Parts: sequence; C-alpha cells; structure tokens
Amino acid sequence: MTLPGAPSLARVRGALQLDGHALDDLARRYGTPLYVYSRPSMLRALAAYQRALQGRRHLICYAMKANANLAVLQALAAAGCGFDIVSGGELERVLAAGGQAGRIVFSGVGKTRAEMRQALLAGVRCFNVESLAELDTLDAVAREQGCRAPVSLRVNPDVDAGTHPYIATGLKANKFGIAHDQALHAYRHAASLPGLRVLGIDCHIGSQIVQVAPYLDALDRLLDLVEAVEASGIPLQHVDVGGGLGIAYGSEQPPDATELVAALLARLDARGHGARELLLEPGRSLVGNAGVLVTEVLVPKPGVHKNFCVVDAAMNDLLRPALYEAWMAIEPCVERAGPAPTWDVVGPVCESGDWLGRDRALAVQPGDHLAVLSAGAYGMAMASNYNSRPRAAEVMVDADGVHLVREREQPGRLFEGEHLLPGPP
Ligand code: LLP
Repeated sequence: MTLPGAPSLARVRGALQLDGHALDDLARRYGTPLYVYSRPSMLRALAAYQRALQGRRHLICYAMKANANLAVLQALAAAGCGFDIVSGGELERVLAAGGQAGRIVFSGVGKTRAEMRQALLAGVRCFNVESLAELDTLDAVAREQGCRAPVSLRVNPDVDAGTHPYIATGLKANKFGIAHDQALHAYRHAASLPGLRVLGIDCHIGSQIVQVAPYLDALDRLLDLVEAVEASGIPLQHVDVGGGLGIAYGSEQPPDATELVAALLARLDARGHGARELLLEPGRSLVGNAGVLVTEVLVPKPGVHKNFCVVDAAMNDLLRPALYEAWMAIEPCVERAGPAPTWDVVGPVCESGDWLGRDRALAVQPGDHLAVLSAGAYGMAMASNYNSRPRAAEVMVDADGVHLVREREQPGRLFEGEHLLPGPP
C-alpha cells in the first residue's frame, strides 16, 4: 500500500520516516503524543492549487480551522497563501503568523459584533455573510466605524456532497448559508445598506468530498445566481466555491487539486465567466496528509472478545475516530517481526468511544511507537484537555531539520486561570 502522505512519508529499512526524519527518533526526543508535520508536503499541496490556477485571477484561502499552528500559517503565508477564518481568535493567530489581512475571508454562521469590529479594523478582504440578520448587524457595525464592510453572501446551494452528515454543509437541512431561493432578495437588501459593499458570492458544501460532480453542481447553482444578481444591477467580483476536497486516508481516490481546479475553470469558461476571480478555501487537502500523530504503546491487553492496545494518545488528542468513526491508518514506527494479532487501538480516556483504530493487525510491545497517519488536519486543531490531559507537542520537519513548533502543555498550567473559592479550604 502507498502510504498516505507519500512521498514525504516513507518506510526505510523498517523505520517510518517523514522527510527523512525517523518518527521513532522524534518520539524519543520530544516525547509522545507528538504531532509531526512536513513543511515540504504542505507547500507541495499548496503549489498544486497555485499551478492549476496560474494565469487566472484567484485567491487560495487556507481554511485554518484544519490546523492553526502558527508555523503552519507562517509557512503557507510565506508561500503566498490567503486564509479563511471563522473567529476573532483565528484572525489574531493568522496576523501573528504573518498573514495579510487583505487576503483573509471571514466565514462562519455566527460572528459577534466584537469580531466584526476586529475584522473591519484589520481590513479583511471579505466577510462571508450567512443571513439577513447578519447583513443588518454588519451594516450597523461598519457604519459605527465609519467604513463599508466588503461582503459576499454564502449561499446554500442544496447540493449533496456525499460525505459524513456531520461535515456536509450544503444541504437545505444544514444550518449554513442563505437558501438559494432567498439569495436574490438578500443581495438586493445588502446592496441597499450603506455600510456594506457587495463583493462576491460563496458556498461551502462539505468536507472530505471525493468527487468533482458536487462541486460542479454547486458552481452551476452559484453562477445561476451570479447572472440573476448582476441582471438586477448588482455587480459581483468573485466566486468562492469553498473548501472540502478530500484526501486519501485509506482506499479513497479523491480527485487531486489539479483535476478539481481544471474542472471548475472549464465550467467557468463554458458559462462565460472565465474572467471572474475564483476563490477556494481548502483546509484538509493542504495539511491533512502532511502530518502524523505519534503515540507510545502503554499496555497491550489481549482479551476474550477483543484485544485492546492501549496507547498514550486519546480522543482528546485526535477526535476524528470517536466523533465521525473516521478510519485513519495506523503504522508501527519501526516494523517488528513476529505475529501481528488484531487490536483495537484505544486511548486512556474514560470513555468506550475513546478509540483511534479498530481491528488493526499489529505486532506490538509496550514502549513501541505507532503513527496515526493523515493527522495533519483536524487533529491538534480539535484537541482538548479532557481528563486534564495536556495537549501534545508539535514539531515541523523540513530540509533545515526539526523545529519544535508547539511545546507540550504542562498539567499544572492547565488550571492556571482557575480560582479557588474564598474562605477556608
Ligand atoms: N470553508 C468553510 C466555510 C468551512 O466550513 C470549511 C470546513 C472549509 C472551508 C474547509 O474544508 P476542508 O477543505 O478542510 O474540507 N472536523 C471535520 C471537518 C470539519 C470541516 C468544517 N468546515 C473532520 O475532521 O473531518
């Protein structure tokens, strides 16, 4: 099997390496659980989008919710990437990492007035607005600040992305976006508000999408609206088709960025919109296969019904299996000879839902290191301190070596902001 994450990830004489760095060595040096990211792999993924869009007006806005480590943002910003943010916290983070406000789109179904003010002050490129009420609030906030807020309307195209229900977002039943049949009215309303400047249209139909067809359906629906909106006298600059391109965790065969972008551009051309600026908001497809989570085997627990391999990473470190029953490959960092019974790989958290992989054939001994692959997206980003577990350290590897890009949390610091009640204990 090709390792998801290749060519950065490779097995060399039995040892799993990321860009030539043995994961087993990194685990010994930095401890576990440990996230390890490949900078070259992220930049290659970005370059594929950039190449496919060359010569076209475009902006790639990395959906930083996938992995918001400062070094990840820094690497992508330095390579010319823009960002898709969904909170004031993300805005602060990306500016701290060197991202340019003029290349930021602000998505999200519930922005606070404070976040709107913050983003206006920073000078973000565009607000992706999701409701009439949000248009009114943003208009008021912008007028209070004596400026006009650039807006795009996020339309819910009612397209089935064919993905897990928790991460499908483009269906009528989802909370996201403005219904397609109300969008024209919403545009007229937006254009009538003095605190707003209508800039574009956007959608995001879901995540881990493994086909091109739903994108083309969504684009068609957007272009129908663009034509109707412009016919009513409101010009639009850009079309933003969101993110969502899937990656191979196992046997999936998603289209690559080149194929997806080519199909989108061909459809834009075919419908006479070739000159329009195209925005994309990829998250997972830029960073997912660039990262792994390394964990140590604590206790192999053979049982009557099941064998459990208890490791030191848990659902608090990597929530995707517990939350979505997501399948993620698990590989030994160093191959071991001998029998490989089938294990459920589980963490130490006090929940039966705390598992990283089920029915995995592995030859393991206590102290061995395992790597959960394709963990660069929505891994650390969704980590929590459940069970008062400190969050993992993160390192980034590149041609210069290994960089510690986030220190391991210290248990005592987790309750630093808490206060005991006054009076005797
Ligand atoms: N744009 C918007 C407005 C989004 O809501 C998202 C993701 C993206 C872009 C990026 O989508 P991507 O290219 O990463 O698929 N935690 C889940 C994924 C949640 C995605 C939420 N929105 C998971 O681990 O699978």
